[in-house]
Amino acid sequence: MAASKPVEPQSGAGLPRWQLALLVGTPIVLGVGAVYLWNRSRTKERKGTGERKTPEGSASPVQGQDGAALASREQENMSPLDRAQAAKNKGNKYFKAGKYENAIQCYTEAIALCPTEQKTDLSTFYQNRAAAYEQLLKWTEVVQDCSKAVELNPRYIKALFRRAKALEKLDNKKECLEDVTAVCILEAFQNQQSMLLADKVLKQLGKEKAKEKYKNREPMMPSPQFIKSYFSSFTDDIISQPLQKGEKKDEDKDKEGEAAEVTGSSGYLKSKQYMEEENYDKIISECTKEIESGGRYTAEALLLRATFYLLIGNATAAQPDLDRVINMQDANVKLRANALIKRGSMYMQQQQPLLSTQDFNMAADIDPRNPDVYHHRGQLKILLDQVDDAVGDFDECILLRPDSALAQAQKCFALYRQAYTGNNPSQVQTAMDGFEDVIRRFPKCAEGYALYAQALTDQQQFGKADEMYDKCIELEPDNATTYVHKGLLQLQWKQDLDLGLELISKAIEIDNKCDFAYETMGTIEVQRGNLDKAIEMFNKAINLAKSEMEMAHLYSLCDAAYAQTEVARKYGLKPPTL
Ligand SMILES: *[C@@H]1O[C@H](CO)[C@@H](O)[C@H](O)[C@H]1NC(C)=O
Ligand SMILES: *[C@@H]1O[C@H](CO)[C@@H](O)[C@H](O)[C@H]1NC(C)=O
Repeated sequence: MAASKPVEPQSGAGLPRWQLALLVGTPIVLGVGAVYLWNRSRTKERKGTGERKTPEGSASPVQGQDGAALASREQENMSPLDRAQAAKNKGNKYFKAGKYENAIQCYTEAIALCPTEQKTDLSTFYQNRAAAYEQLLKWTEVVQDCSKAVELNPRYIKALFRRAKALEKLDNKKECLEDVTAVCILEAFQNQQSMLLADKVLKQLGKEKAKEKYKNREPMMPSPQFIKSYFSSFTDDIISQPLQKGEKKDEDKDKEGEAAEVTGSSGYLKSKQYMEEENYDKIISECTKEIESGGRYTAEALLLRATFYLLIGNATAAQPDLDRVINMQDANVKLRANALIKRGSMYMQQQQPLLSTQDFNMAADIDPRNPDVYHHRGQLKILLDQVDDAVGDFDECILLRPDSALAQAQKCFALYRQAYTGNNPSQVQTAMDGFEDVIRRFPKCAEGYALYAQALTDQQQFGKADEMYDKCIELEPDNATTYVHKGLLQLQWKQDLDLGLELISKAIEIDNKCDFAYETMGTIEVQRGNLDKAIEMFNKAINLAKSEMEMAHLYSLCDAAYAQTEVARKYGLKPPTL
């Protein structure tokens, strides 16, 4: 998601994803295959959720009529199939009584007796035996029997799902995912249980793959727009401010020995120069010079270097620098607070909310009048779903810096989300009025329009949302993210796929490192049934991911698409497409 900052759970962070999740309607990644259908069916009554109560599977455990009738007959008069059924029914009784070993014996007998051309019955017997093995936690046997059942009856949902669960226990995630994908498609994405298993496996797979890939990834500098937008989220911050007059003058006054020396040797001042020239690739090495020479800007250089390590996605390299700055008791408190904000955000990205909260609280302790601390802590609180605390922090930020449009917009958005998820229409209205107020008072703040547009989209006020995105584009024509949002809006509003894709292509044209655009395009291609294209798009996004967490999410999407191609190939099953 390109709107997120690399290390910050801030301004855009979480919002596009949140919107996408809303579009999908659930946290279920697999659901991307059926977004619109799912969305439509969501309003309808849920079907098929309570279907799997009997562990022994599709054969009802005791088929009373046959059972009674068969028992009264003479064994010799029975056909082989009847005898097999009788054995199965006996097995079901044992099963119900919790005597699984005995049940297995009966099912084995049923399988042996059953004529091989009776595929449906035979598959049921295997499935039932698998259910008994499942009770005994014999996963390999479960897989074997389910495989037999599926061979005989390829659309046997219960056998597929049981095998998926056993494969998960055996840690065979890839095959588990394929089975559970088939189940979800067969159930038209209507069964919570299988959707949750799919989601779980996709997340685990994504996490594993991202861990591996992220370690070995080439460092990558984000786009200049991204970097500028990142720095603009800090206001009370020394390193992101342009050079001070005094410092700049040093360069001109080259007559003055001392000043000339400072300039000549100060890697930090050089790196600041490069910042202004947007020559970002040279910053880390210049900072290193400053640090290694023990220059007077060592603390600043450490913080700036750490910031760029974070921007290129190398938290491992950033952390020791941040630690050093934070521990420099005599360094400028602004530097230390800024380092704490960045380390706190980094911890959040590493899913360590306690450490993160600790850092933000410490920042507030040492620099209580720094609006950045509250602004960024507010964003953390939103991610932690602590909306009241978030609003408190945004208020504090606004108090310290009344012209902070971003904090005001984000406060509205926090209030909106709270009202929306709490189903409180009057508070929703209050939040919407708040947005109107923000865009009136800060007509130059693009983020205000963008957040308002997201809330409007949610409220199905599509026309007005579209206007808001147009204002954003007017203010920040080179912000690719806005085009993606506008594209998504066209899909939701007019089901206009072509216009949606056109806008997203435009986003990629503006910024070919916009991972959010690739992600969205991939999602749409999944829905159109273009799985290969979708996988290609997801892979592009994976290579651009700015954190391991984001990469894991993208791998999940990619794996979901891949599993769907496998299912299509194996079973001829296709999810509903647009
Ligand atoms: C682009 O706009 C979004 C709001 O839509 C904002 O969150 C983000 O910071 C902006 N990104 C850049 C690179 O300016
Ligand atoms: C991150 O930085 C560390 C330490 O500087 C280095 O060993 C590692 O190779 C870097 N990783 C990437 C992906 O650049």
